[in-house]
Amino acid sequence: MNSPVEPVLDIRLSNTGDAECIHAVLVDAFNRQAEAELVAAVRHAGEAVIELSAFAADELVGHVLLSRIQIEPPVAVHCLGIAPVSVLTRLHGQGVGSALMHRAIEESRALSVDAIFLLGAPAYYRRFGFQRTHIGNEYGVTDAFMALELEEACLAGIDGIARYVSAFSDTGV
Ligand SMILES: CC(C)(COP(=O)(O)OP(=O)(O)OC[C@H]1O[C@@H](n2cnc3c(N)ncnc32)[C@H](O)[C@@H]1OP(=O)(O)O)[C@@H](O)C(=O)NCCC(=O)NCCS
Repeated sequence: MNSPVEPVLDIRLSNTGDAECIHAVLVDAFNRQAEAELVAAVRHAGEAVIELSAFAADELVGHVLLSRIQIEPPVAVHCLGIAPVSVLTRLHGQGVGSALMHRAIEESRALSVDAIFLLGAPAYYRRFGFQRTHIGNEYGVTDAFMALELEEACLAGIDGIARYVSAFSDTGV
């Protein structure tokens, strides 16, 4: 008897038909509604710049959203924020999150994004090249606020606060 074939991970831009499954993945991964509501609010506001869905054997198992980050005072640097990234709990530790992160970075490069920000566990996000940033944030965190400069040194000399789109503060995430 043949052994089962490992499901191949397929990552593509999310489409409107994915919304229900994305909601379910977010609620499962975070064990609450807040992030699912945030993603719906960002999408509804037309502020989802990149949304990716990961499929294993035709099941939507992971998702990542990137939205605009505005540095204040304004600077001519094109920035996105990754938030949230989620993977079905039963599939954690199998590389889905990493695959989504690599693709999110690739898609950002394709849009000529200068820098990507995120707030998350440094031990995880350092592996994708993110580093602690001197740019401030609305959440008052230090080590956990990280940036990846796709355009080398684009944040050097900039003194400002990175702001996520208003859905983040509106939904309290
Ligand atoms: C974070 C998350 C997306 C990672 O997805 P994943 O598919 O499990 O990640 P991968 O399989 O690519 O990587 C797993 C590795 O990341 C590490 N990792 C995962 N979350 C981590 C964290 N919070 N801190 C440190 N390391 C972490 C694991 O220990 C594992 O390490 P290893 O490669 O040395 O074994 C997933 O755990 C998740 O959905 N978590 C709940 C939602 C969440 O917290 N999202 C992040 C904040 S927006």
